[in-house]
Amino acid sequence: MMMAFRPPLGWNSWNTFGDKISDALIREMADYMVSHGYRDAGYEYLVIDDCWSLRDRDAAGRLVPDPEKFPHGMKDLADYVHAKGLKFGMYSCAGVMTCAGYPSSYDHEFTDAETFASWGVDFLKYDFCNFPETGDCRTRYQTMSMALKSTGRDILFSACNWGQKDPWTWMRSAGAHMYRSTGDIMDNYVSFTDIFKSQLKNLSMSANGCFNDMDMLTVGMGGKGNVGFGKVCTYEEYRMQFALWCLCGVPLMMGADLRNLAPEYEALMKHPDLLRINQDEECRPPYPIRMGAVFTGNPDPKEGEMPWRSIPDSSYTLFRHLSGGEFALAFINFSEAETVIHLEMVDLGLPVASGFALRVKDVFTSEDLGRKSDYFNPKVPGHDMKLYLCRLEKANG
Ligand code: GLA
Repeated sequence: MMMAFRPPLGWNSWNTFGDKISDALIREMADYMVSHGYRDAGYEYLVIDDCWSLRDRDAAGRLVPDPEKFPHGMKDLADYVHAKGLKFGMYSCAGVMTCAGYPSSYDHEFTDAETFASWGVDFLKYDFCNFPETGDCRTRYQTMSMALKSTGRDILFSACNWGQKDPWTWMRSAGAHMYRSTGDIMDNYVSFTDIFKSQLKNLSMSANGCFNDMDMLTVGMGGKGNVGFGKVCTYEEYRMQFALWCLCGVPLMMGADLRNLAPEYEALMKHPDLLRINQDEECRPPYPIRMGAVFTGNPDPKEGEMPWRSIPDSSYTLFRHLSGGEFALAFINFSEAETVIHLEMVDLGLPVASGFALRVKDVFTSEDLGRKSDYFNPKVPGHDMKLYLCRLEKANG
């Protein structure tokens, strides 16, 4: 079975817990992923990030789990996670030390890969801190890729070099299944919208087998935890983050403490239509239509005038082809003010003369808005978005 046929889904310890990780925490999170239906919704990987090991390797040169944090060792924990029907992920780094200063895998790639495989690891996040200046980044990711393959175990390779050397152009050929394309996400609106804007143009190489990783979600964290800097997001802002990650078809690694998550965020991250868009097997990136087109209020202006004016970067309109004749259509308002965004259907390939319209369903409310042809002007509150699922229908059928 191919790994990462669709964007990987799971949970990672870093965003909330940083170095405050333990065997008990991971077991509880595994229990929650099952009892709260995350596993059944498709979230599969439970990943321990940095700070799990001792500061020194053992006499045989192997990484050693910190016995205070992980008193039963990693194999025992992996067995527990597997018994819950989940997959077990761990973390190392391509440099000489991890970002938090623990031993990492530069020149230990094959030994460490074997250690991870012997513990039953299914997923390796592979970071980029403390990478020697003389080292070659591509070669070292390729080396870990080969080391993981040498174990004979299916281990999903989650490369994390923060977008250095344009990973979207080579990580697929180096055998990675996903690659971090930006610096670290912080739990605020500016951070996640910047990540999204920077990666939209890089998504055409993100598809079956190897995905652009726009970083772990902060949805529902509410400023608590390890990456809580800046203004706390509103519900609508978190909904935007989740919907953008779904629209982009990138991995969804939850970062919040699932044990203390408000029910609206739990529902959001299990939303069937959003997950269906994220997991669409054709893996097409969204198609940007017209950026920053604000409706003037008059759909039928005088000769030489337009029904919209351009405010660059204020809003994006994106259209995504899905399998089975469906489409996703998003209107994203990055400004603080409520805005009526203007879409001419001809700009998404549907001139009036075609005789076809789009039947439009609001993903967040499930409301059927009927058929849209010619133009479409949804009103979008500030820092919010509209997301529609659409199908082609005869305009006058
Ligand atoms: C880097 C990564 C983060 C996290 C930390 C751990 O900053 O980008 O995602 O893994 O290291 O130290």
